[in-house]
Amino acid sequence: MHPAEHAINDGRALITQARRIAILTGAGVSKESGIPTFRDAGGLWRTYSPQELANPDAFARDPALVWAWYDMRRQKMAPCDPNPAHLAIARCQLFNASQGKEGKAIHVITQNVDGLHALALNRVQGFPDDAPLDPALAPLELHGNIYRIRCTGCGARRVDRGPIDSSSVAALPHCRLCGALERPDIVWFGEMLPEGPLQGSIAASSDADLALVVGTSGLVQPAASLPLLTRQRGGHIIEVNPQATPLSREATVVIPMAAGAAVPKLLKASD
Ligand code: OAD
Repeated sequence: MHPAEHAINDGRALITQARRIAILTGAGVSKESGIPTFRDAGGLWRTYSPQELANPDAFARDPALVWAWYDMRRQKMAPCDPNPAHLAIARCQLFNASQGKEGKAIHVITQNVDGLHALALNRVQGFPDDAPLDPALAPLELHGNIYRIRCTGCGARRVDRGPIDSSSVAALPHCRLCGALERPDIVWFGEMLPEGPLQGSIAASSDADLALVVGTSGLVQPAASLPLLTRQRGGHIIEVNPQATPLSREATVVIPMAAGAAVPKLLKASD
């Protein structure tokens, strides 16, 4: 048997035993949906400088440039579908939720802003893409959501999947309530993470007896430390990533495979 197949079997054994699973995902889980990662060859940060674009000073200096970059990313992501990894995670959440007290508690924590975990939950249930999610199943989005827009004045949020006119500052989105300039509801460098998802992620990771980490370089804090909370409490870590990361040495099982191939096999045992 190939070593990766052994690792899948070991991972399935841990998943079968687990009662509370915190699934942490990064850009790698969406790569097979056609969304570039940040740090791999051809990744977004290799092409564009985050210092220039994803920080509050850049937005203050040139909001049209920052919006143009986000509009480009929004348009590239819009036609992307959840891949077999997102769908397997969603099916696993729904199956366990349907089992009541007998089911495992599954929390999805993501650094991704593409909304594909939420879309997968609706697609698996045959619901419209924009149907509201059961809050117990909704992914904890640590870095925001690219389709959510936030007012820089009053803080009001709204969802908008349409194109953004960045031809001038006046044409950029402005708040319908207070008139101030709006911005992407994304966490930029130097900004705090949103309190609700952060506290939810810390609680879920501390409480979990298994952390399943999929497609993250483990370089960005505090997300990278969440699986360690699980381990500190005696839980295990399973990592799915074709490349080794700083989390690999903390993991009980490392599966060096792409998410779309590994995750459906891993979670099959609990379907
Ligand atoms: P990175 O681009 O840093 O890392 C992506 C990881 O996915 C790498 O470790 C790859 O080896 C792995 N990978 C690539 N293809 C994969 C596949 N098919 N299946 C599984 N894994 C695969 O992305 P993140 O770790 O998500 O923050 O980056 C964390 C944060 O850095 C992002 O959320 C973003 C950025 O700054 C913000 O924008 C706030």
